[in-house]
Amino acid sequence: MLKPDGRVVMISGANRGIGLATAHALSAAGYQLSLGARDPGQLQSETFPGKASCHHWDAEDSNASTKWVNDTLASYGRIDAVVLNAGVIIGAGLENGLEQDMDHMWNVNFKGPLKLVRAALPQLQSCGHGRVINVVSLSGKRIMGSANLGYSASKFAALSLTHAIRQHNWPSGLRATAICPGLVDTEMVKQVNTPPGEFKISPDAIAGTIAYALSLPNDASVAEILVNSRLETTF
Ligand SMILES: NC(=O)c1ccc[n+]([C@@H]2O[C@H](COP(=O)([O-])OP(=O)(O)OC[C@H]3O[C@@H](n4cnc5c(N)ncnc54)[C@H](OP(=O)(O)O)[C@@H]3O)[C@@H](O)[C@H]2O)c1
Repeated sequence: MLKPDGRVVMISGANRGIGLATAHALSAAGYQLSLGARDPGQLQSETFPGKASCHHWDAEDSNASTKWVNDTLASYGRIDAVVLNAGVIIGAGLENGLEQDMDHMWNVNFKGPLKLVRAALPQLQSCGHGRVINVVSLSGKRIMGSANLGYSASKFAALSLTHAIRQHNWPSGLRATAICPGLVDTEMVKQVNTPPGEFKISPDAIAGTIAYALSLPNDASVAEILVNSRLETTF
């Protein structure tokens, strides 16, 4: 297994939800962190056992990815992994929903991660063990009804990004894994009630899954991890 050993991990959307839980889990494990958030001030009250720097990153800002990568290199001199976590959901389905909302989800859930990976790619390829963990969704694997078509489409695209990274320069040691959870107990789905006897996945469980994916060596790469809290007929 790959040991944390001061490896530097960038995490987008690190200020809350899965991103914040992941930051705490990875710092406790011994990684050094470069945390991206639209408002990095929200991370000021967090304490991490290891080194953690906080940076502004907005998925819709074209220059933000290069700046965050450059600032991370200035702080640490290396980048070993990127956790593409920031994401957004807006109800936009087959019959209803605004085109601009579809565009917004496309920009945040697909194009933002693409720009961030492009900016970090030279480091991820040259270190010999680069990792990209993409927090996709089961909505990037299957369609349940038509109400969330826009979100699903952006997450299918995010899954294709993960596989494209996997197939890019494999000999360099670059590996990518898509984490595809069902409902996770965060702000994003706070209005979604689960039926009696069913539960949402805890953000800490997803953080642990991300830590596991990061620990896999180059010759034990896992393309997708599907995380269910309830039985689905397909997955
Ligand atoms: N919760 C679920 O049920 C679930 C299930 C499967 C997959 N996911 C995925 O898990 C990831 C994390 O979501 P979460 O559940 O932790 O939800 P969350 O608590 O709503 O967190 C979303 C994060 O994304 C950030 N974000 C939103 N728009 C952004 C933008 N334009 N630029 C940069 N950051 C932006 C948010 O920052 P602000 O605080 O600035 O808004 C926040 O940090 C997302 O990709 C989501 O699609 C969630």
